Amino acid sequence: MSLSKSEYNQSTYFYDEIMNSFKMDFSFYEDLIAILKPKSILELGCGMGRLFPIFMTEAKEITGIDLSDEMIAQGRKYYTDHKFDNTLIEFVNTDMCSFKTNKKYDLIVFALSVLKHLSTDRERLEAVQNAKEHLNKDGFIVIDHKAFLYASRSTDWIDAKDSLVVDWVPPSVALDGYQWKKSIEGQKDILQWRYNDAEKTHFEMKFTTYRYDIEQLIEHLGQLELSHERILTEWGCNGLSNQGKRFIGLASYRDNKYSLKQELLEKVSKRNERLWSDHDLYLEDNKS
Ligand SMILES: C[S@@+](CC[C@H](N)C(=O)[O-])C[C@H]1O[C@@H](n2cnc3c(N)ncnc32)[C@H](O)[C@@H]1O
Repeated sequence: MSLSKSEYNQSTYFYDEIMNSFKMDFSFYEDLIAILKPKSILELGCGMGRLFPIFMTEAKEITGIDLSDEMIAQGRKYYTDHKFDNTLIEFVNTDMCSFKTNKKYDLIVFALSVLKHLSTDRERLEAVQNAKEHLNKDGFIVIDHKAFLYASRSTDWIDAKDSLVVDWVPPSVALDGYQWKKSIEGQKDILQWRYNDAEKTHFEMKFTTYRYDIEQLIEHLGQLELSHERILTEWGCNGLSNQGKRFIGLASYRDNKYSLKQELLEKVSKRNERLWSDHDLYLEDNKS
């Protein structure tokens, strides 16, 4: 689809401001990095490196892998322009299922349900196996995963300014005109975004991801001889909770007996003022 200049501006605004303003998972990564103090981090499906500023508080070496050359180009530009001299940041434009390097990492990250971008169990197993092969002996793989993305009761276009998106973004980000729509077709979990005014739709994009149940993820971790610890089950606009349906947890080699769960939960409970209740979220699957 070719975009006119104003459409292009609206779509870059969408990526730069709306997508990159997503911060609901930040406190979890801040706490994890503060406890684990990983010196090297690999993120699979890193996008533009949204989480790298958090990683940089401890890591001296960060590698981000992404299949999208546009995401990689934007990430490289941002982190080159801002000159973060104390951390070596490398973006690699390749597939997380087949990526290979001689390096091993203290922490490997699958953030924002990135495994849902893979359409088959074979690919999901390859991606996690690949993570395992790049993991230091005492390291951890952190996985934040949900079977379905962006829950919504409605299957019609929703004005972003009247929806849960308002909780993602700072008040300075203008949402007028942006709309989103959720649909499920078989195993496909589809999210559409558009910029629409009274006269026409200026740009429209579609993200297709694939249902990947948490039980299946846990079974795959077992098949790959990784042990796992589920720590939290939801993040929201005011903090983290253990009352949701996400898998927010850690996997490691079976002989790594170090558990981070207690320390992480203590940190979360210290953020008491930011804990949210189910009532605050508009979760479609609350009913089941
Ligand atoms: C929802 S974005 C998440 C970005 C980032 N993890 C974050 O939390 O901000 C998913 C990313 O996964 C990337 N991706 C999808 N399939 C991939 C694959 N097979 N290998 C590497 N990256 C992939 C997409 O290009 C996209 O940037």
